[in-house]
Amino acid sequence: MFKMRSLAILPIIGSVIAQDVDYAQFVNPFIGSEGAIPGYAYGGGDVFVGGTVPFGMVKLGLDTYEEPINQSALNGGYTPKGHVTGISLMHESGTGGGPKYGFPAQMPLTTIDGDVNLLDNRTYWQSRIGDDVAKVGYFSTKFESGVSVELSASRHAGLYHYTYPESSEKHVLVDFSHYLPYPTRSWDSQFYTGGEIDIQPNSSTYTGYTSIAGGWCIGAPVTVYVCGDFDSPPVEAKAFRGKNTFPVSRHFRSFDNATTPQPTFTGSSARAGPLNDRVGGVFTWSNTTEVKSRVGISFMSVEKACEYKDSELSSWSIEDTTKAAHDEWNRDVFSKIQVDTSEAANKTRLALLYSSLYFMHLIPSERVGENPLWESDEPYWDDWYTAWDIFRNQVSLWHLIQPSYYESMIRSLIDMFRHEGWLPDGRSGNYNGLVQGGSNADNILADAYVKGLSGMINWTDGYAAVKKNAEVLPYFDQNPVDPQGSLKEGRSALDDWIPLGYVSADRNSRAVSKTVEYSLNDFAVSQIAAGEEPGDRDLYFRRSAGWQLSWDPEAESRNFTGFVMPRYANGTFHKTYNITNCGDCNWSDESYEGTAFEYSFVIPHDVERMIELMGGSSHFESRLDYVFQPNTSGVDLGVNGLGITTINNVANEPDFQTPYLYNYLNKQWKSVQRSRQLATDFYFNTSAGIPGNSDAGALNCWLIWQMIGLYPIVTTPVYLLESPWFSDINITVNHNHTLRIRADGLDDGDGKQGYYVQGVIINGEEWNKNWFEHEDAGGIMNEGGEILFKLGTEQKVWETGDVPPSPGHQVIDVGQGYMMTR
Ligand SMILES: *[C@@H]1O[C@H](CO)[C@@H](O)[C@H](O)[C@H]1NC(C)=O
Ligand SMILES: *[C@@H]1O[C@H](CO)[C@@H](O)[C@H](O)[C@H]1NC(C)=O
Ligand SMILES: *[C@@H]1O[C@H](CO)[C@@H](O)[C@H](O)[C@H]1NC(C)=O
Ligand SMILES: *[C@@H]1O[C@H](CO)[C@@H](O)[C@H](O)[C@H]1NC(C)=O
Ligand SMILES: *[C@@H]1O[C@H](CO)[C@@H](O)[C@H](O)[C@H]1NC(C)=O
Ligand SMILES: *[C@@H]1O[C@H](CO)[C@@H](O)[C@H](O)[C@H]1NC(C)=O
Ligand SMILES: *[C@@H]1O[C@H](CO)[C@@H](O)[C@H](O)[C@H]1NC(C)=O
Ligand SMILES: *[C@@H]1O[C@H](CO)[C@@H](O)[C@H](O)[C@H]1NC(C)=O
Ligand SMILES: *[C@@H]1O[C@H](CO)[C@@H](O)[C@H](O)[C@H]1NC(C)=O
Ligand SMILES: *[C@@H]1O[C@H](CO)[C@@H](O)[C@H](O)[C@H]1NC(C)=O
Ligand SMILES: *[C@@H]1O[C@H](CO)[C@@H](O)[C@H](O)[C@H]1NC(C)=O
Ligand SMILES: *[C@@H]1O[C@H](CO)[C@@H](O)[C@H](O)[C@H]1NC(C)=O
Repeated sequence: MFKMRSLAILPIIGSVIAQDVDYAQFVNPFIGSEGAIPGYAYGGGDVFVGGTVPFGMVKLGLDTYEEPINQSALNGGYTPKGHVTGISLMHESGTGGGPKYGFPAQMPLTTIDGDVNLLDNRTYWQSRIGDDVAKVGYFSTKFESGVSVELSASRHAGLYHYTYPESSEKHVLVDFSHYLPYPTRSWDSQFYTGGEIDIQPNSSTYTGYTSIAGGWCIGAPVTVYVCGDFDSPPVEAKAFRGKNTFPVSRHFRSFDNATTPQPTFTGSSARAGPLNDRVGGVFTWSNTTEVKSRVGISFMSVEKACEYKDSELSSWSIEDTTKAAHDEWNRDVFSKIQVDTSEAANKTRLALLYSSLYFMHLIPSERVGENPLWESDEPYWDDWYTAWDIFRNQVSLWHLIQPSYYESMIRSLIDMFRHEGWLPDGRSGNYNGLVQGGSNADNILADAYVKGLSGMINWTDGYAAVKKNAEVLPYFDQNPVDPQGSLKEGRSALDDWIPLGYVSADRNSRAVSKTVEYSLNDFAVSQIAAGEEPGDRDLYFRRSAGWQLSWDPEAESRNFTGFVMPRYANGTFHKTYNITNCGDCNWSDESYEGTAFEYSFVIPHDVERMIELMGGSSHFESRLDYVFQPNTSGVDLGVNGLGITTINNVANEPDFQTPYLYNYLNKQWKSVQRSRQLATDFYFNTSAGIPGNSDAGALNCWLIWQMIGLYPIVTTPVYLLESPWFSDINITVNHNHTLRIRADGLDDGDGKQGYYVQGVIINGEEWNKNWFEHEDAGGIMNEGGEILFKLGTEQKVWETGDVPPSPGHQVIDVGQGYMMTR
């Protein structure tokens, strides 16, 4: 029975709730700062911990060195127990691979004589005493030296507040050759390539730049201009330089005779010179125990860095700066998803929800007006680290709750294509790099396009950008880990993909995962072509079925038959390939970060064909059931897996959608059951409360969708209906409209199971499908409206309508001998 309700009586449409709830109080910024080994970062979230605003260019926090280094991960700078080597303004959050940033830095010291060598962090690094404190926009800690440190930040500047013991000396080291090292690997470690420091005549202000190359994307040098000052004039301020003997500075370094040289003091300024000598300054006070410092940074000029410092941090007050950051987070991020925060509310859930929102708004970094590479009126964003991580559901949430920022991001991506020739898959330090599989910016653009994001986005150029990814083989980037193709940008295996229709395992690396990803990429291209260049649409639509050419109907594993498999250019399959074990699962392997077993489920645009190829609904269902059975995984995730023993790996992006595939069988209750179980088994309000690297917040965002009871199908306007964790949720969508999600009968505390869906009503209409589209029900995701879930304990097949669509559906003969002809 359909009951239409007039839109006129929906009171919430178009209204914005006045809001003064302090959601930020529920955020736990430590979630993900620790891994499976208590006290160590290894295998954890690699998250940034410190002071920042949403998507802030400055993320001010500790840089540490944690020993033993094999149990550490320095990517976010912070580690639970590491020695503090500096406190720097730029960080990533949640990333794997080679650490990036960790500069420019200061370090408060209580002695600079004796054993201390300003060029050797090991002679002055600090353990912490007591507990670190982290809140939204604020961080504090205390060093073994007795110095207390408080930090906060604005968008382009950081505020440091040091309190020294009365009796000690008071110094601040400014180290322009400091960066986050990669102690266990050199090919993608950062290295220092020069700097310059000038101390102004009044000694209170220093300016200059630091330049650091390499790191995660094997990037070009990143030059950051710095302008710092202190709230009281130091009694002494001197610049220094010293030979560059960093172990991994294979470029331009001085010879290393196994000792670290001492610095040479050079008066009020120091320059790196042709051998990239290290530069810095040391500032000393005698008559105060409190020293505050404001530091602005810019990719453009010292002048701009000074302007940011002066305009954004006019008060010098940690409290004021923290409050400003805190208010911005509440206003622009947390209040976008409102749930009951009263006494009766489950505080663990509030922590999980608002912390997840926090972590998914740290990168990319908003750098509007901070693009040193070309002049443009378009916005600029960096730290796409990476599209591979965020395309699957994170961009879809930004689309809803951050439409202004998101439009700005998309314009920035397209502008990169205009000026550099390519969209990034990963980008950091103004440099594209480390494409893991396909060109996944295609998926991001298509997802925005099909949901009607327009504003000032030039979709003519947007289409040209994705079409280039589909057509032009990127030049080889001389990367050291994959001689078969470029890791910088584009699709390195187009030389197979276009003529063969799949990526071959003999001519290219990562054949299985690239084939699966290129298929979705071409579907994405076809989605944009449909509107922008309709004559192209069929070509890319056809290519999006390429995964079927890599489907070996005879491949067998664990009693299941038919998998995407490595296929050679001559058409034969790699028959002995291990379907449950991808080995290192890395750059030069046949499948990247996922087994053939897992990737066989990763065809979001044509689940219908995938089900057919797996032998129909019931075979598909048993195979899906199987990947969630304990002790089935053939891959040893070790300490990195936080106890995951199933083939399905909830900790990594390829499998994000798999637990929701039961919706395609109209057995939505099983999607709810699996996905909830995964969420409750692997996400906690603790430092080790996330199953692996948070990946720019991708894992956190997976949890948010789970908690609001929806899941988006990327590159399509479809959202699957699941089961919310709160009985009333108001989400601000499309700038100022309210999507209300209510759950009648939710009763799931203390092990109760009252979270299975018994029925759904959307905008007053009884909904008989377990999915809906962006524009359904009067444009619910744009105009707002209400989704009412009726929940209960019965595991019920409530949905009688069509299963979710497979808009890329095509049938291609699979198996040996067949090749696509074009
Ligand atoms: C790190 O190395 C130490 C020995 O130095 C070893 O005891 C420990 O198990 C290693 N940790 C990991 C995570 O491999
Ligand atoms: C600290 O010193 C060690 C040894 O020279 C070096 O490897 C590392 O890069 C330095 N810097 C930091 C921030 O750890
Ligand atoms: C020190 O000099 C700089 C540059 O001339 C100026 O901006 C700043 O206000 C001065 N600071 C103090 C404390 O006089
Ligand atoms: C501390 O010393 C500096 C430099 O001698 C001086 O300018 C400043 O006024 C003094 N501050 C206090 C609080 O005495
Ligand atoms: C190594 O270099 C340092 C600093 O340049 C110097 O003091 C020391 O004597 C050298 N040691 C050797 C063994 O050459
Ligand atoms: C959601 O919005 C409605 C309408 O303004 C309001 O009555 C309700 O209390 C809100 N719910 C929450 C959890 O904020
Ligand atoms: C889009 O950009 C292209 C050139 O980059 C320009 O020719 C075209 O007019 C722009 N379209 C719109 C609608 O602004
Ligand atoms: C596969 O099926 C056979 C025969 O039914 C059974 O003995 C075996 O245990 C099954 N293997 C797995 C991994 O389920
Ligand atoms: C096909 O290519 C693979 C990989 O080069 C090779 O091992 C196999 O023998 C070839 N088979 C045929 C029939 O040519
Ligand atoms: C695949 O790898 C797993 C895990 O290492 C191993 O147990 C299994 O025997 C291998 N299977 C085949 C067919 O080689
Ligand atoms: C809603 O937001 C849009 C986009 O910012 C704006 O144009 C419009 O005026 C706003 N409407 C209301 C009622 O605030
Ligand atoms: C609060 O939520 C957490 C996380 O979902 C859950 O484990 C716990 O049982 C809930 N507590 C109550 C009292 O419902």
